[in-house]
Amino acid sequence: MKNLKDRVIIITGGAAGIGGAMTTELTQRGACVVAVDLNQEAGKQKAASNPEQIVFLKGDISKESVAVEAVALAISKFGKLTSLVNNAHASRQKPLLELTDEDWNLSMNTGLKGTLNFMKAAYPELKKTKGSIVNFGSGAGLLGQKNQGSYAAAKEAIRGLSRVAANEWAIDGIRVNIVCPLAFTEGVKQWKENFPEQYEDIISKNPMHRFGDPQKDVAPIVAFLLSEDSQYMTGQTLMADGGDIKLR
Ligand SMILES: NC(=O)c1ccc[n+]([C@@H]2O[C@H](COP(=O)([O-])OP(=O)(O)OC[C@H]3O[C@@H](n4cnc5c(N)ncnc54)[C@H](O)[C@@H]3O)[C@@H](O)[C@H]2O)c1
Repeated sequence: MKNLKDRVIIITGGAAGIGGAMTTELTQRGACVVAVDLNQEAGKQKAASNPEQIVFLKGDISKESVAVEAVALAISKFGKLTSLVNNAHASRQKPLLELTDEDWNLSMNTGLKGTLNFMKAAYPELKKTKGSIVNFGSGAGLLGQKNQGSYAAAKEAIRGLSRVAANEWAIDGIRVNIVCPLAFTEGVKQWKENFPEQYEDIISKNPMHRFGDPQKDVAPIVAFLLSEDSQYMTGQTLMADGGDIKLR
């Protein structure tokens, strides 16, 4: 399938986890990708797997300069920027009363601020190409899952920010949508070890009784939002979660 031919996409956290799977799937669909990640080893490996279509930028997405650098790299390497996927988000799970300023700042700076930084840096180029942005939310935010205070707050703020941008930037031809995934990654594996009961609870209640596959289940939904097939959609939240949460 080549429905993303001519797309040049920045993917934050694009070296591993769902981001890494998106880098692989979206390039297989014809796109070129700038993968921004802290994980140098995984990033280098990803770029080496397809140097024609993937370039890696090591950087912390909470830094504004990294967003500016990523946009410049898309232009210098691939000649334009058509799409942005704000996927990376670091956080720590703790009960509300144990949350420190450091915990709060980690989630807000990588999740919310990082998303805003990249949206602002990409805006002038996306305006030229009538581009599309996909930001990442979470069922943990929608449900207010225990121990996820700083994460849930940032995720719901990202959805609010995305709806504002959808309204403000529709006139520029830029669409902004949100995906809330449920997928088995290294991050989820660690979380499962710390909170096995929450993990089992999710599996038992999920209509499909499984976590999604990052490449087969989540990346194609992002591909749809970056393609012309979704050209009449903006400001929407799409659940890539096996029917876990049914938004109304
Ligand atoms: N996996 C799930 O089931 C699930 C559920 C709900 C929401 N999400 C959301 O989906 C997205 C991807 O999740 P995942 O499970 O693949 O996460 P992950 O932790 O497995 O991978 C995230 C990637 O981002 C990178 N990263 C982390 N902090 C960074 C920073 N400051 N700068 C640059 N790169 C950084 C990591 O190196 C890693 O490659 C996140 O926004 C997450 O909150 C995931």
